[in-house]
Amino acid sequence: MQIISIVNKKGGVAKTTTALAIASGLSKRNFHVLAIDFDAQANFSKASGGEDDVVGSFDILTGKENINEAIQELPLYHLIGADKRLSSIDVALNKPGREFMLKKALSQIHSAYDFCIIDNPPALNVAVANSLVASDKIIICSSAEAFALDGLMELSTTLDDVHQFMNPALIVDGILITIFNPRTIIGQHIKEQLSKIAHVMNTKVYNTFIRRCNTISVSQSDRKNIFDFPTTKAAIDYGNFIDEFLGGHLHG
Ligand SMILES: Nc1ncnc2c1ncn2[C@@H]1O[C@H](COP(=O)(O)OP(=O)(O)OP(=O)(O)O)[C@@H](O)[C@H]1O
Ligand SMILES: [Mg+2]
Repeated sequence: MQIISIVNKKGGVAKTTTALAIASGLSKRNFHVLAIDFDAQANFSKASGGEDDVVGSFDILTGKENINEAIQELPLYHLIGADKRLSSIDVALNKPGREFMLKKALSQIHSAYDFCIIDNPPALNVAVANSLVASDKIIICSSAEAFALDGLMELSTTLDDVHQFMNPALIVDGILITIFNPRTIIGQHIKEQLSKIAHVMNTKVYNTFIRRCNTISVSQSDRKNIFDFPTTKAAIDYGNFIDEFLGGHLHG
């Protein structure tokens, strides 16, 4: 199982949208996928059609339940859902080794899936630390709008610490530019800035970028996946992105 975290400390940069697209896109390519929602907003869980008030990622992080109790079998992929209790995870999970709870739990089901996709909150809390410690690869989402670069240097410092102390093998696979409008000057400018930051972080900006597309919010509120609208810009771009990602994945 490859464990992939979708991250950025900044909010509203399409982390959840990207995690949904990757989970459903990989499932449609016949991979066995487990998705984990680590955000108290539970947007990923809601858009996936997950159940409320069930054992979820909070119970796994705090070690209260076995991971198998938290897995919901949805039509496309399996889900470990989020709920509001995650907003106090830093208080609830406050013991030595707290960053290793997810890694330990996932070791029990490592051979059951091809991919585990983790949607993270816009934060650098202990849930995100668990995500970075357990992951093989991360994908950083960045919108191509003003202030898009905010928080990236802080993330970079956190990644340095994770590499040094907790998960030296973690690969920063790349930066995915989302909500992109190629016609705007700001979009082009941010693309150049992100390439420089990618260099500092020893990674790349993916060739594929995700164009702005109004169907995204419609698909999410209807609990459909973006590939149910195959002719839209978002379905085309996310499909290309998954191909690009898998190309790198298959060839190391
Ligand atoms: N390519 C796109 N085109 C248009 N709207 C988009 C696109 N991608 C995402 N959005 C919209 O932008 C908003 C933020 O997206 P999303 O919730 O995926 O971001 P996020 O990074 O997960 O946010 P948060 O940090 O709050 O968890 C949502 O309303 C979503 O529908
Ligand atoms: Mg989100």
